[in-house]
Amino acid sequence: MSNVDLAARIPNNVDLDHDPRLQRALEKWLPDYLSWWQAMGPQGWQARDVYLRTAVSVDADGWARFGHVKMPDYRWGVLLADPVPARTIGFGDHLGRPLWQEVPGEYRNLLRRLIVTQADTEPASVEQQRRLGDTAPSLYDLRNLFQVNVEEGRHLWAMVYLLHRYFGRDGREEAEALLARRSGDPDRPRILGAFNAPVEDWLSYFMFTMFTDRDGKYQLLALSQSGFDPLARTCRFMLTEEAHHMFVGETGVGRVVQRTAELLQEAPGRDVRERGGIPLDTIQKYVNSWYSISLDLFGGEVSTNASDFFASGLKGRAKEPDYEDHVALGATYTVRRPTASGGDGRLVAEEVPLRNAMNEVLRDEYVEDNQRGVDRWNRTLERAGLAFRLRLPARPFHRAIGIYAGRHYSPEGEPVDEAAWEARRDEWLPSASDRAHVADLMRAVHEPGRMAGWIAPPSRGVDGKPLDFDYVRVT
Ligand SMILES: [Fe+2]
Ligand SMILES: [Fe+2]
Repeated sequence: MSNVDLAARIPNNVDLDHDPRLQRALEKWLPDYLSWWQAMGPQGWQARDVYLRTAVSVDADGWARFGHVKMPDYRWGVLLADPVPARTIGFGDHLGRPLWQEVPGEYRNLLRRLIVTQADTEPASVEQQRRLGDTAPSLYDLRNLFQVNVEEGRHLWAMVYLLHRYFGRDGREEAEALLARRSGDPDRPRILGAFNAPVEDWLSYFMFTMFTDRDGKYQLLALSQSGFDPLARTCRFMLTEEAHHMFVGETGVGRVVQRTAELLQEAPGRDVRERGGIPLDTIQKYVNSWYSISLDLFGGEVSTNASDFFASGLKGRAKEPDYEDHVALGATYTVRRPTASGGDGRLVAEEVPLRNAMNEVLRDEYVEDNQRGVDRWNRTLERAGLAFRLRLPARPFHRAIGIYAGRHYSPEGEPVDEAAWEARRDEWLPSASDRAHVADLMRAVHEPGRMAGWIAPPSRGVDGKPLDFDYVRVT
């Protein structure tokens, strides 16, 4: 079991004190990181005590410590999961060979791109969420927001460690660039689309942590299979923290659904908007929006990049050990693609080489995981005796990347023309008035244990604490 040196300026379990050059490089990056955090992290809350968990070990039991901390004093550290004994490269052209402990020269650029793309999402999400602290529906939720934020900061540290440790000068330049890009900035945006969309209200925040963070989970699962062992171990430990982010999203949306269901039961037939709730069809439109932009994050359905990542042994499938064939040559995968002729957007099944379909394979695993969450929300509606059911829109709906991009489809997956899309857009995606209503409900609630009227309380507090605990000290 590796020890974590918590007294160090940069807490770590990678023996940083035995690598003075690396230590100096990271200590030089530290003040830049902190000024980025002050400028782009949670706005207005940097001086407050927040009840946060900090990773202090990579031990499955007891890896975290809870306590009130001011966010700028959070102990961001570099923590890698312990090596898996006897693990070898688990897929691709190098199947069964020893893991790489240093960057394989022929894959240097490919690997750096993978790491930078993942790393970029971490600070991006902190930037997207920086103003949400003004309107949290409870102190419990406010604390969860900040927990997610500091952990995304730690994930950035984890990836920056890899860049500094394994990529020399260009790694250091990439680490600087990670602090220079800004979510939504037209001149220097974050790399991936969904990480430039503003997260302006708490319904969007819960959707983001449900759907967009879950893309992160699947990317990390795929990278935790990597033949480049330092990346695999980094991602394995990040997944430990990531589970909480998904919990925030799924239970957050679930509590909104529950509150709306209560309002509908109390006054059947009345518009829940008049009673300070969020209508179910508005929730559905937010699902449609965040789910579809998160699907785009997996990349094209048919992709030579995906094939290269798999062939090289750098990025596997989320559940790689569960498959029988780890080489994936000669096998095919069915992709539903718009017909080339006629151009009406009808979908036809096409067999593509499996390696080229790896993005789609990962997306399939992701879709299934989301469906389980949606099923849980629907059980709440069922228990309340309501007929409405939430659902995930069809794969081609509202896509900007891949084979469906540039065409229009309904949430049921039927091709529609431009005129029909424009006419029905507000039925399918949040309209200006839906957004205005949600925005109107966003008011901060700072009394311990109290909840805003549009969301039900959680079933329990954090770390065994009661709901009226002072999760954030507001004064
Ligand atoms: Fe993360
Ligand atoms: Fe996350």
